[in-house]
Amino acid sequence: MKKILVSYFSASGVTKNTAIRLKNLLNSDIFEIEPLEPYTDEDLNWMNKNSRSSFEKTRDLFFSIFSAEPWNDDWSDKEQLNTYIKELMGNFNSLSYGLFLEDELI
Ligand SMILES: Cc1cc2nc3c(=O)[nH]c(=O)nc-3n(C[C@H](O)[C@H](O)[C@H](O)COP(=O)(O)O)c2cc1C
Repeated sequence: MKKILVSYFSASGVTKNTAIRLKNLLNSDIFEIEPLEPYTDEDLNWMNKNSRSSFEKTRDLFFSIFSAEPWNDDWSDKEQLNTYIKELMGNFNSLSYGLFLEDELI
């Protein structure tokens, strides 16, 4: 017999309610994914660009883009990545540049 597991993360309870309904519907097991460091309400304030969740969203997006082609940057040092993103987000005068070979960004 097939076993089904509904696993979920829910910051404020919305997804939790859906997961419980799904579990009841499927008659499955259920597992809540919990963060190692719990989120406060202020951490979850996604309208605040300086909140923990805004920072993490920006950092993870940056990581997924710049660790892949064509950049392949090495961001395996998480401390270095955190520091870099903090500086980037806190400095609205940051300077960015691209290197072009003929018409192509390299
Ligand atoms: C960290 C975080 C980021 C969010 N970002 C957005 C967003 O960019 N746009 C939006 O419309 N809602 C956003 N929301 C609202 C959630 O999508 C919405 O409240 C959802 O129902 C939360 O489900 P949950 O409480 O189960 O985690 C965000 C919520 C959280 C906690």
